[in-house]
Amino acid sequence: MKRSLLIVLALVAAFIGFNFVTVFNLKSKIGDTTLQLDSALYRVQELERSYELAEGMHYLQIYMNKLWFAGIEENEELTKFYLHELEEFMEDIVSRNVVSRGKNVSELMQSMALPQIELLENQLEKKDKIAFVLGYRGLMNSCNSCHITTGRPYLVIDLPKSPVLDNQVFSKAE
Ligand code: HEC
Repeated sequence: MKRSLLIVLALVAAFIGFNFVTVFNLKSKIGDTTLQLDSALYRVQELERSYELAEGMHYLQIYMNKLWFAGIEENEELTKFYLHELEEFMEDIVSRNVVSRGKNVSELMQSMALPQIELLENQLEKKDKIAFVLGYRGLMNSCNSCHITTGRPYLVIDLPKSPVLDNQVFSKAE
């Protein structure tokens, strides 16, 4: 009788001990996960902080310039290439959650500018210079509309007069 009581007590003690160790392990796992989440969050915030919007805009401006000369030379492959570069830079801005002067630049980029890329793509299918110019103007207007919306009406993009870099051939190779 006494012995069986001892066995029961020993079993109970082992059970409690086992649970204690399990809880302890779980606690330290939760601690590790929290640390990992904290450091991931920190890295995301760092990336957002270090992103310089004006730098991305600078590329948009250069590609807009090159896109124009590729388009008026009716160089379809090169035009599509720059349209794709513009789209990539815009999508990058969309993914970075950029907020400036209380305006969500990423959301505006998605709703104002990216649809104009698609419209210009459709215009290119017409294989007609006038259609290209119309689509290009639509895209250019979206640049300026967003500058106005984000409180920067002084940033005005216009049709280019000469290539921003003079060492590139825009006409189709014969
Ligand atoms: C969704 C809003 C939005 C769209 C669309 C947009 N911009 Fe901007 N742009 C901004 C904001 C905001 C700034 C100011 C950035 C800063 O203060 O650092 C800016 C700044 C600029 C600048 C000044 C920086 C420099 O390098 O001189 C240029 C140029 C520019 N944008 C070109 C363009 C072009 C070209 C397009 C279209 C292809 C475009 N932007 C589309 C919001 C936009």
